[in-house]
Amino acid sequence: MSFWARHQIFEKNSIVLILGILVVISIGGIVEIAPLFYLKSTIEKVEGMRPYTPLELAGRAIYIREGCYSCHSQMVRPLRDEVERYGHYSLAAESMYDHPFQWGSKRTGPDLARVGGKYSDDWHVTHFINPRSIVPQSIMPGYPFLASTEIDQRGIAPHMKANRAVGVPYSDEQIANAVADLKAQGNPDDPGVQALLKRYPRALARDFDGNPAALTEMDALVAYMQVLGTMVDFRRYDAKANLR
Ligand code: HEC
Repeated sequence: MSFWARHQIFEKNSIVLILGILVVISIGGIVEIAPLFYLKSTIEKVEGMRPYTPLELAGRAIYIREGCYSCHSQMVRPLRDEVERYGHYSLAAESMYDHPFQWGSKRTGPDLARVGGKYSDDWHVTHFINPRSIVPQSIMPGYPFLASTEIDQRGIAPHMKANRAVGVPYSDEQIANAVADLKAQGNPDDPGVQALLKRYPRALARDFDGNPAALTEMDALVAYMQVLGTMVDFRRYDAKANLR
């Protein structure tokens, strides 16, 4: 039987054709998927990544509570237009301590993966209180109540423990000092700032909301904004390499 005559068996019999397709596709699938089960980790380690500080973690919880992800993504894709607008495309390691991750699927507003350091704390506070005072045509809602709501400090150590249960390497010392670190980061004059920086290298300690009298949800959310995309030092990488 010639090759073409044998091939006709597949072409003329749909069941045989389907079985043939399944066999071919599963070979492809096994080749792609099986090796992943033998890797210790599919995330490449990247220098600079550290777990969130208690204040940043509290800010992240507010971000999720307020549904910011419904309008903002946190993932710069490896496409030239995105890299030119937002900066280096996101690395898997940059969300390795995010539970759940905040990549999002909707961009009513801009991507926030690299918003850290883009604006001053003051800009964020004014913008969160009333986005239209900065961007007149903005449709982002205002969140003025954050500035007058104190952070619930009881929740922070359990939140860190929950993160540890899903793989974030918080130490016992970090969890024991959760509230101390929370307070130190919101007040640059706090005696605990040095200890905070030892536990969380390069954390920013300052009065994020401009109100030294209280540690508010605004402090937490701005601290979270200002750390986004800043942990990895991208001056050491070439963002335009590896672009499609
Ligand atoms: C209804 C959609 C919507 C929601 C919800 C929303 N935003 Fe926005 N956001 C926008 C739009 C649109 C812009 C662009 C205009 C502006 O700057 O106000 C924006 C801009 C921003 C910017 C400035 C980004 C930049 O690079 O200029 C930040 C930061 C921000 N939003 C954070 C947040 C946070 C944090 C929350 C949740 C507390 C939130 N947004 C909720 C729509 C939204």
